[in-house]
Amino acid sequence: MIKVAFFDTKPYDKSSFERYGEQHELCFRFFEAKLNEDTVELARGCDAVCVFVNDTVNAAVIEKLYEFGVRLIALRSAGYNNVDLKAAFGKIHVVHVPAYSPYAVAEHAIALLLTSVRRIHKAYNRTRDFNFSLNGLTGFDFHGKTVGVVGTGKIGRIFIDICRGFGMHVIAYDLFPAKDSGIEYVSLDELFARSDIISLHCPLTDETRHMIGAEAIGKMKKGVVIVNTSRGGLIDTEALLEGIKARTVGAACLDVYEEEADIFFEDRSGHILNDELLSRLISMPNVIVTSHQAFLTEEALNNIAETTVGNILSCFENDGVCDNELCYRCGHIDTCRKERREKCF
Ligand code: NAI
Repeated sequence: MIKVAFFDTKPYDKSSFERYGEQHELCFRFFEAKLNEDTVELARGCDAVCVFVNDTVNAAVIEKLYEFGVRLIALRSAGYNNVDLKAAFGKIHVVHVPAYSPYAVAEHAIALLLTSVRRIHKAYNRTRDFNFSLNGLTGFDFHGKTVGVVGTGKIGRIFIDICRGFGMHVIAYDLFPAKDSGIEYVSLDELFARSDIISLHCPLTDETRHMIGAEAIGKMKKGVVIVNTSRGGLIDTEALLEGIKARTVGAACLDVYEEEADIFFEDRSGHILNDELLSRLISMPNVIVTSHQAFLTEEALNNIAETTVGNILSCFENDGVCDNELCYRCGHIDTCRKERREKCF
């Protein structure tokens, strides 16, 4: 029986993982706590840990996990910026779920965008109060507008397809442009200058952190709508607030926030929110915040559980080779062993 310490458990995780775990020799120990230096002790006696986006898997936590005999970190997310891959290398294997439903995230980005631009959130509240006035609800047509997409991977490409359905003109920026995609790639500066709407779909790395800051916002069209369903750290929140106050940014649709780790995914109603920036953001009439919800569809939850269980089984059974293993050398032509269908170390 493979024992897995499951951190940051929510009811919707438990039901899908129990279903897949029972079909195999897997024993999940579910903990509501997030993994960090204070809670790592809970993993003692387990073979693997299963973590999500706001668990802290830094060098200190990895050292402890290794000491306890944990040999696998199974991310139940695509993003892995919360794991110190270098510290894990040679000690603990790391796997993730590269794609569970890119549609879920792309569709949520569109949902946020439509809600914001057509003021659906305002209209919903008004009609519930029998207020049928239309004053202040004027939006704009998507048709004919230019949307700038940063990151044209799985999610970005689906988002682009949907935008094309609306009759929007799509331009994009990616470090590695997709060949033969028919996408018009431009420099980041040109994307900032030409876009009516900017949607972020690239990962958070040292290079992309705060890619939307004061300087970038200064290059944008007046009234630009910014959508972020990727990672909060891509946007410098203070600079975004300044851009909104200066009326450069017309609206912001945010499913992620750079300081979300201790706030999102929990019911904090009835409490004083100890986060000035988030409070100010939420108080803006042209900002919509959802709490990292873009992935949350039935299809995605099932795919996450199925792939994660598959990842764990492949790492502990047979030759231990797992297509979804990650390490800091992944993608480097000279050193990447995965390309040769071998374990990362
Ligand atoms: P992907 O790996 O398929 O695509 C990412 C794209 O970004 C690639 O084309 C890559 O070349 C590009 N990229 C890398 N560095 C870049 C840079 N410096 N500048 C511009 N482009 C760059 O990833 P996928 O599945 O499309 O996911 C995108 C992001 O969405 C993830 O990194 C994750 O942070 C976020 N995400 C958010 C979820 C949510 O619930 N809000 C759920 C799933 C993913």
